[in-house]
Amino acid sequence: MEKVEIYDTTLRDGEQSPGCSLNDDEKMRIALQLERLRVDVIEAGFPASSPDDFKAVAAIADAVKSSTVTGLARCLKSDIDAAWRALKNTENPRVHVFIATSPIHMADKLHMTPADVLDCAAQSVGYAKRFFPQVEFSAEDATRSDPAFLAKVVTAAIDAGATVINLPDTVGYDTPREYADMFTYIRESVPNADHVRFSCHCHDDLGMATANTLASLQAGVRQVECTMNGVGERAGNVALEEIGVALHVRRDTYKTFTRLKLDEIKRTSDLVSRLMNSPVPKNKAVVGANAFAHEAGIHQDGVLKNRATYEIMSPSLIGLDTGRLVLGKHSGRHAFRMRAADLGVQLSEEQVDQSFKAFKKMADEKKEISDKDLLSLFAHAGKTKITH
Ligand code: KIV
Ligand code: ZN
Repeated sequence: MEKVEIYDTTLRDGEQSPGCSLNDDEKMRIALQLERLRVDVIEAGFPASSPDDFKAVAAIADAVKSSTVTGLARCLKSDIDAAWRALKNTENPRVHVFIATSPIHMADKLHMTPADVLDCAAQSVGYAKRFFPQVEFSAEDATRSDPAFLAKVVTAAIDAGATVINLPDTVGYDTPREYADMFTYIRESVPNADHVRFSCHCHDDLGMATANTLASLQAGVRQVECTMNGVGERAGNVALEEIGVALHVRRDTYKTFTRLKLDEIKRTSDLVSRLMNSPVPKNKAVVGANAFAHEAGIHQDGVLKNRATYEIMSPSLIGLDTGRLVLGKHSGRHAFRMRAADLGVQLSEEQVDQSFKAFKKMADEKKEISDKDLLSLFAHAGKTKITH
């Protein structure tokens, strides 16, 4: 079993999503919760981007002790200097420098030749290394870059002192096989590849961020960049909770572990959702309100007999007290009787028959039946004995 490092970028890439900006106090609360969740690295912001971001990164760097705190910097001396001023007091100072390597980004965004980009990447990593023992280098838009050129840039960054190489799928374009093959190619063609940790960073434009991330782990990647609830630019980043739980539930396949405290996931998800004003969809994997809810009668009957019939993990794994049996028009008698008992109502078989019919009629009219609805239904039946 090999360790996979979890690098959380909720406070940097996540905060870049429209409408999700946070004030300093909110950033600090999220950072402290991420530390409780035991992520390995917290990317707290982009210190050169604004005085507020600088202040927030510096404050988080001072407060967080058991996760590494890092900040983003372009390949510019002034960005790296700002990152150093913000991060110099952390236990294990680490900076994340990046430059784009795809033809479209180099020509149309940076107006730089490939030779300039190669030189700039090497110079900047070398400069960052004068201050920071840990330097992560990212080749932005790696998945749309020429592989041979990418290998040259990665080789130069490692020679200049990079300790982590991140190859992002910046625009969420790759398929899982392509993303894994890119890492295999780079690891095989860069002479000093075994000196560094490789990192993935996936966006979800085609809904493939989780699949791409997991595929890259099978190609030797050992750091995952992710955000809570998958917040981030456009369709977002890969969701931390999906990777953390997938690596745990399917450790038979991935043969890796993380240091995450998985039962802090739900609390972290709720906090991020609330402070970023970004509701989690009901059917969101792992943390959605329906992720452990069952409505269909056959499913409810199975779960009441043995949860594992329809649940591959227990709600307590992510810090949820219990799953939910949702009573609706697909529910069966077994769940109905159990909910009555939970509510302190004992029903004879005859009473179950009678009130279950009334319940089905009500369920045809309402999407979800609440406990209050049920109690009024039992009261109307008038034949039940309330035990407490
Ligand atoms: O998506 C991306 O390429 C990024 C880089 C800055 C790492 O967020
Ligand atoms: Zn990104």
